[in-house]
Amino acid sequence: MVQNIAITGASSGLGRALALAYAHPGATLHLAGRDAARLAETAATARALGATVTETTLDVTDQAASKAWITAAAPLDLVIANAGISIGPGDAHFETPENIRALIATNIDGVFNTVLPAIDLMRTQPAGAGGQKGRIAIVGSIAGLMALPTSPTYSATKALLDTWVTATTRSAAREGIGLTLIRPGFIRTPMTAINPYNMPGIMDAGDAAKIIRDGLAAQKTYITFPWWLALLARLSRLAPPALFDSVKRKPPG
Ligand SMILES: NC(=O)c1ccc[n+]([C@@H]2O[C@H](COP(=O)([O-])OP(=O)(O)OC[C@H]3O[C@@H](n4cnc5c(N)ncnc54)[C@H](OP(=O)(O)O)[C@@H]3O)[C@@H](O)[C@H]2O)c1
Repeated sequence: MVQNIAITGASSGLGRALALAYAHPGATLHLAGRDAARLAETAATARALGATVTETTLDVTDQAASKAWITAAAPLDLVIANAGISIGPGDAHFETPENIRALIATNIDGVFNTVLPAIDLMRTQPAGAGGQKGRIAIVGSIAGLMALPTSPTYSATKALLDTWVTATTRSAAREGIGLTLIRPGFIRTPMTAINPYNMPGIMDAGDAAKIIRDGLAAQKTYITFPWWLALLARLSRLAPPALFDSVKRKPPG
């Protein structure tokens, strides 16, 4: 059973639900987020469930601070790079340069600011059962399987994470490090609360966290749910762009 876990973006939504899913006596949780008050609430709830908890106010775009946080949390069985942002294009036909750069800074640089120090740390840890030194999970999205006209850069950042995990899994495994890409569909969180459209298959964050926890316990490389939404996303990539563009521009429902 994984006992020492670090989670970014634990102050809200899926990260908070994951922290609570792993909160039990014997578990040590290292929780990070930007909003100190909401992070403290997650930490207090996790402690009430029996976990030992450290809470760190951290912006994942800060490379040095992220490395210091991971290093101080050692040893770690599991690191979940969950922190991420989503910005729709708003009324403009194109995303603003500021939004594009913010998405790349958080969803790509921020994830690697967490993942790369975690790899360095796990390399130095003794191998446990099955020769594994630790597991790193990255929160991608089903949006990474398609090219969403309503949020191009969000889709692109998640696609990059998807491709990176696929291409790196074998190399990481040779070093005793498990990699997992988590591809959720719609989850009820503050991120989706502002969406003015129906979201097919939307689920509560607690239910999503249980699916993820079970998938990580089974050492899956991909945790993708719901499967049918992922299938539709993959099929949309095979279709001529003109056919699906108008459909995808209309939010589901
Ligand atoms: N909700 C969905 O339907 C859905 C679907 C697929 C994938 N995802 C992914 O799931 C992850 C969590 O999203 P969510 O739905 O739980 O959204 P959320 O409720 O908005 O939570 C996002 C979390 O990320 C943290 N965060 C954002 N930027 C950060 C930064 N620069 N440094 C540190 N922490 C930062 C936030 O911290 P503060 O609040 O403290 O600022 C917050 O804890 C994201 O990667 C998202 O892309 C969500």
